[in-house]
Amino acid sequence: MPRDVSQLRSREWFSRPDYESFVRRAWMRAEGFGPDVFHGKPVIGVCNSFSELNNCNAHLRTVADAVKRGVWQAGGFPLEFPTISLGEVFMRPTTMLYRNLMAMDVEESIRAHPLDGVVLLCGCDKTTPAQLMGAASADVPAILVPGGPMLSGQWRDRELGSGTDGRKLFDLFRTGRLTEEQWCEIEGGISRSAGHCTVMGTASTMAAVAEALGMSLPGCAAIPAPDSRRLAIAEASGRRIVDMVWEDLRPSRIMTRAAFENAVTVDMALGGSTNAVVHLLAIAGRLGIPLTLDDFDAASRRTPYIANVKPSGEFLMEDFFQAGGVPALMREIAHLLDGGAVTVTGRTVAENLAGAACHRREVIRTAAEPLHAQGGTAILYGTLAPGGAVVKQTAASPRLLRHRGPAFVFEDYREMRAQVDSSGLPVDGSTVLVMKNGGPKGAPGFPEWGHIPMPRVLLDQGVDDVVRISDARMSGTSFGTVVLHVVPESAAGGPLAAVRTGDEIALDVEARRVDLCIPDEELARRLAGFTPPPCPFTRGYGKLFFDHITQADLGCDFDFLRR
Ligand code: FES
Repeated sequence: MPRDVSQLRSREWFSRPDYESFVRRAWMRAEGFGPDVFHGKPVIGVCNSFSELNNCNAHLRTVADAVKRGVWQAGGFPLEFPTISLGEVFMRPTTMLYRNLMAMDVEESIRAHPLDGVVLLCGCDKTTPAQLMGAASADVPAILVPGGPMLSGQWRDRELGSGTDGRKLFDLFRTGRLTEEQWCEIEGGISRSAGHCTVMGTASTMAAVAEALGMSLPGCAAIPAPDSRRLAIAEASGRRIVDMVWEDLRPSRIMTRAAFENAVTVDMALGGSTNAVVHLLAIAGRLGIPLTLDDFDAASRRTPYIANVKPSGEFLMEDFFQAGGVPALMREIAHLLDGGAVTVTGRTVAENLAGAACHRREVIRTAAEPLHAQGGTAILYGTLAPGGAVVKQTAASPRLLRHRGPAFVFEDYREMRAQVDSSGLPVDGSTVLVMKNGGPKGAPGFPEWGHIPMPRVLLDQGVDDVVRISDARMSGTSFGTVVLHVVPESAAGGPLAAVRTGDEIALDVEARRVDLCIPDEELARRLAGFTPPPCPFTRGYGKLFFDHITQADLGCDFDFLRR
C-alpha cells in the first residue's frame, strides 16, 4: 500500500518534538545539509562494500555516486555507509568464515540507522549473499546493485576467464609447458579492470540469482563493471528505491517461495556455481522459507542448462551480457518460472520479461536445444553423504559421472598440499581423491579447498580429471568431477571421517548417489572411535562461528540468525 510521509521510519529519528530529534537534525546539518533536505523525504542508505582490499568492489564508490544521483532525482535523501567487505583472493583463511559477520553488519547497520530504504552495492562472491541475508532480516525496502564483471581477460590472441583459465594455465606452467615469461604476461592480462570474475563463478551466479529473485532491476547482473550502462542502471536503481519506500515494497514481499523457486531454476539454467546452493539456503532461512536441497535437485531435473559460459561452457560474462543477460535467459525458460512473482520494479517477472530477447544464440541456447538436458548442479545422497552433497555435473567429465574406484585419502588440506605433487603418489585414473576436514567446522570456515589440484603424476600421464570428494566448497570458476559440501562433514562425525585409502567409492550422478562401499557394521565400527576436533578458537568471532555454524544443507548460517 502506498504510504505517506507520516509513516516514514526515519521520522522516529528526525521528527519527534524531543531533544534527541533536535540533536539528530543538528548533527546531520553538521555535514552541510539544510533542513529542507531531510525533512519529509525518504532517507536511503547506500550500503557500500567498497574496499581497496577487494578489487572486485573497488569501483563501487563511483557506482554509489550514480545511485545517489538517482535518489536525489526521485526526491529521496541518500546517505552512503560502509560495511566490511570480503575480497575473495585476499582474505585468509576464507571469506566464507566472514559471510555471516558481513550479513550481521549489514542487518544491524540498516536496523540501527534512520533508513527508509537501502541500496545494496556488492560484487565479489560473498558480498552479494551477505547483503541479501542482512537485508532479508532487516526487512526494510531494498534493491541490489552488483558491481558487474570485469573486462574479459586477455593473453596474446586468447580471451581468458578469471579462475577457470588461470587454473588450466597454471597446470601447464607447473608441468613446464609455459615459461616464466609467458606466465608473467598472463598475470598482467587476466584481470583487466575492477569488477568480479569474468566467468559464471559464484559472483556472476549470485548477481544473476539476485536478479531472478527479483531483488535487482532487470538486466542489472551482467553489465560489465566499466560499462557506462552500469552507472545508468545504478542511477535508475536509486530512483526506484525511493518509489519502493512509498510502496512499502520490502524484501519479504519480493523474496517469497515462488521467487526462490525461480532463482533456483535460473541457477540451474546458468550452470551456476555450487556455492549458490549454500547461499540461497541461507537467504531463505532468514525469511523462514523452507527451501531444501531437494528443491535444487527437482529444479535440476526439469531445467535445461542453456548458458554457454565458462566454466561449464565456452564464453565469458561480456558475451553473456551481449547475448541479453539474465532477462534473455529467463525468457527461454519462462515456462519453468512463476511469472507472477513480484520484483523490485513493482511489476511481475512475466511483465519484466516481455521485451527480453536473445541476441547471440551461441551464448544463450533455447530450452529446446540446450547444452545439457538437466541443470548445472545435481544433489547426491548415499552412505557417504546421508545429509547430501553437490556436484556440478555440467563442469564434470562425462566419463566419470558414473564411476567406481579406490579412495586415496588426504586427512586434511595441509596433507593434501604436501603430497599432491609428490612423484610417488600411488594414484591412477581410477582413483577417487578424498579430502577430509574442509567443512564449516573442520577447516574451519568452509573454504574453497574442494577443487583438489590434479596430482602431478596424473598430469604427467595425460590424465586431466579424476573424481574428487570432500566436505569443502570449491570456487565457482572451477571445473572437474568434484563432489562437494558432504553432509555431515567429517569433523561432525559424518561417514567421510571413516573413509580409508583403498576403500571403494561409487559415484552415480544419474542415480544421484555417492556411496562408501564398505559394510554397514564396518562403517559403524570405524565411526564409534570418532572424536570431534576441538574448537581451534578460544575467543572472539571465530568461537562464535564454531559454536553456531550450521551444516551446508542449512546454508551455513548461524543457528540463531535463521528465522
Ligand atoms: Fe571476487 Fe572472483 S575474486 S569474484
